[in-house]
Amino acid sequence: MINLNKFSSYFVANWKLNGDFNFIDQFLDQLKIPKNDSKCVVICPTSVHLNYISTKKKGLYLGAQNVSQYKSGAFTGEISCQSLLDLKVDFCIVGHSERRQKYFETEIDVNQKTQQLIDAKVIPIVCIGETLEDKENKRTTNILAKQLDDGIPEISNSNNTLIAYEPVWAIGTGLTPTLDEIYQTHEFIKNYDTKFNNFKILYGGSVKASNAKKIVSLSNVDGALIGGASLKHDEFGKIIED
Ligand code: 13P
Repeated sequence: MINLNKFSSYFVANWKLNGDFNFIDQFLDQLKIPKNDSKCVVICPTSVHLNYISTKKKGLYLGAQNVSQYKSGAFTGEISCQSLLDLKVDFCIVGHSERRQKYFETEIDVNQKTQQLIDAKVIPIVCIGETLEDKENKRTTNILAKQLDDGIPEISNSNNTLIAYEPVWAIGTGLTPTLDEIYQTHEFIKNYDTKFNNFKILYGGSVKASNAKKIVSLSNVDGALIGGASLKHDEFGKIIED
């Protein structure tokens, strides 16, 4: 398992269902990787492309977007932790809101996936966040509390798990919370239980070159989880630049 403490910040590109060999070749050729190796830059392509990137990447870490909660067996179409390990995958996103909403993933699934990953020595990046309706009904902290309580297993700690706060209403919309709102929410997560005090927390949702530096410079934001802007090498390059 990667030693999370050697990094000062994390920038995770979630490519979702995008990319092909051509795209990957061009992206990796053109992306300027920061000299500062305390920045952990992670690319999460489709699972089919993990191996291709693993053979080509330099100065980057590899992440998956999902994993099965089961070790092995009759689960057609699923991807095991062992297969991620075989491909030298270092990180795996868990509980992204798109998986919760479109594939009906529950907190129990998130909890089991996170446990499996930790056992396999792959770092889970557990996504939590409120919907617009939750926000409007002032239920953000209730929702986050439930996701932390039920989705993060006992064995998780600041050395083996990352948390990503992604307000669902900010994903792909161009909207973001204010800097103060991001700060307050990260503060809530860190102080919700003493066990979360030292967890690294990334922010995700409409991060782009024009807002990334301000967001990541907040004292309790340890990096960013980036969707759309991570598909453009120049935009992503600006987000990760020193
Ligand atoms: P956008 O950066 O496109 O808003 O997506 C965020 C996200 O879902 C990353 O996991």
